[in-house]
Amino acid sequence: MDENKKAMSSLEEAIACPVCYKTLTTAPQDCNQCHNYFRNELAKLPSASLDLTPERIKGEIDDAVDSQPLRTELFRLPIISFLYERILPPIWAMGLRNVGGIDIEFQECREFFGQNLGIVADISCGTGIFSRRLALLQQCEQIIALDYSEAMLGQVQQQMQLEGISPSQITIIRGDVAALPFTPNSLDAVYSGAAMHCWPDATQGLRNIYQALRSGGKLFATTFLQPLPSIVFRFFTPDELPQMAIAAGFHPDCVQLETRGVYGIIKCVK
Ligand SMILES: C[S@@+](CC[C@H](N)C(=O)[O-])C[C@H]1O[C@@H](n2cnc3c(N)ncnc32)[C@H](O)[C@@H]1O
Repeated sequence: MDENKKAMSSLEEAIACPVCYKTLTTAPQDCNQCHNYFRNELAKLPSASLDLTPERIKGEIDDAVDSQPLRTELFRLPIISFLYERILPPIWAMGLRNVGGIDIEFQECREFFGQNLGIVADISCGTGIFSRRLALLQQCEQIIALDYSEAMLGQVQQQMQLEGISPSQITIIRGDVAALPFTPNSLDAVYSGAAMHCWPDATQGLRNIYQALRSGGKLFATTFLQPLPSIVFRFFTPDELPQMAIAAGFHPDCVQLETRGVYGIIKCVK
């Protein structure tokens, strides 16, 4: 099998229906749970973006749509996704996120992930700040950029075009961290930047990531901390972050916490 076909088949094995958790090869031809929605979405690979949110799948079946909290919905506004990467990076670089900015975070994450990157998912990718940098390195077997916001994913596509990144280099998935469309034990690494405070339930999100990671797989996740006030977002105390990772399934010896002011980073190995 040539390298491209091998990579495509490992991608197909990693992506699962978020309703029945079957993959393209194990899902029945006439699925009575999603009415073949999953199979039809996967047929769009390798170049189109897929909508694998459970709400979309359920909506196909019975118009049922789960509501999301404001901290998730906010990012679906086109104005927020348009301004996000045009405004925030210089503010982050002054120290809110990492002194030196997103490039420092990318470098630190690369060092943690190490060589031989296989399938890497950027969960809650936003405008693809991480996935696009990773694609330019050309060291991964597969990169998956997943976010709940269609508007953010539209920005990922636009920026990829501007940066000359081909659609086959990043698989774009609309998905919900509360029901990730991944096969258990299929991902080699997950990056989730500045996102946990936006999720409906951060521990549940981490649990889903833990399940999707293979044994030895790595998670690099960042968020903002109290005393930032939890008005729209849910900010954490430094103690809560490792506790959440442990409650999600990570062994306490395999969870590291770093804090920089109101910025928290957890590095976990499954
Ligand atoms: C602050 S942005 C972070 C974007 C990017 N990772 C970064 O490093 O800048 C948080 C992202 O989380 C996404 N998000 C919020 N709730 C989500 C959910 N339930 N499932 C997946 N992504 C979600 C938002 O759409 C938004 O793009």
